[in-house]
Amino acid sequence: MQPYAFFRKQFMPLSEAKVGILTQALHYGTGCFEGIRGNWNSELQKFCLFRIDDHYKRMLEACRILKIDLPYSVDDLCQLTRELLERSGYREDVYIRPLAYKSSETLALHLHNVDDDFLIVVTTFPTYLDTEKGVRCCVSSWRRVDDNMIPPRGKICGIYVNSALAKTEAQENGFDEAILLAHDGHVCEGSGQNIFLVSGGKLITPPPSDNILVGITRDTVMKLAKNELGIDTVERAVDRSELYVAEECFFTGTASDVAPVLEIDRRPVGTGQIGRITAQLQKLFAEVVLGKNPKYSQWYHLFSPESAQG
Ligand SMILES: Cc1ncc(COP(=O)(O)O)c(C=O)c1O
Repeated sequence: MQPYAFFRKQFMPLSEAKVGILTQALHYGTGCFEGIRGNWNSELQKFCLFRIDDHYKRMLEACRILKIDLPYSVDDLCQLTRELLERSGYREDVYIRPLAYKSSETLALHLHNVDDDFLIVVTTFPTYLDTEKGVRCCVSSWRRVDDNMIPPRGKICGIYVNSALAKTEAQENGFDEAILLAHDGHVCEGSGQNIFLVSGGKLITPPPSDNILVGITRDTVMKLAKNELGIDTVERAVDRSELYVAEECFFTGTASDVAPVLEIDRRPVGTGQIGRITAQLQKLFAEVVLGKNPKYSQWYHLFSPESAQG
């Protein structure tokens, strides 16, 4: 099996897809990316591409922020992704990484009048957090970037320095993951995942105006909670101390799934075990993300890699 990339408007072996060392995005983080799940459904012998169009819509919005002008529609991007999967020959869960970036080989520090390019790579699916055992977190000493610094509503490359600093600090101090606070001290999100609390039988999560990435898993979980469990989500500012008194807490994200948070700043969350509502949402999410719940078929594209036509 040969890994392939879509790069400079064509498909090529991954080993041949290279950028020059003066590429602007490499120096300044002037790009934006997505992380999309392609789950291999072995019964159907098909990939389940989960909410792929929503991921590409979000990427095209980030492109507008960065003045990146791509010659592709959402449908074009979905089709390029299917074709790449077809060529790559994977028959297992994959993680799809599209990247739109400032490709001019220049040290100029502006977004206008420089070239844009776009690539897609596919890798095997990484295990990011232990969703069965749950995760131990700390509140990071690093604050989340603000919308007026680098807009967090897009997955902008440069923002991930902020995430990497927080994740590194957490892991080097013996935790699995970091929880970042916004500039005003309100709870924001994990280094690469949104956060939810369960309190008084409701879900609580920070709103988009608190500098979060408006996660697609976050939206999925909010809809599953409402439709399947009759549980409402309140989007509101969350104080740090609410983390310590919540009944349950969990992260959501494409790479993280629904990940129970069992300890924060060396305090057990609730009973210190995976909570009842978290476990129910984990189960519901696992079904839809594998394309196993026809009620939510609008969220997934089942695609046979033999045809690249869907
Ligand atoms: C900073 C950040 N927050 C939240 C998320 C979760 O977003 P999604 O559920 O769309 O993957 C991610 C993952 O992409 C992220 O990088």
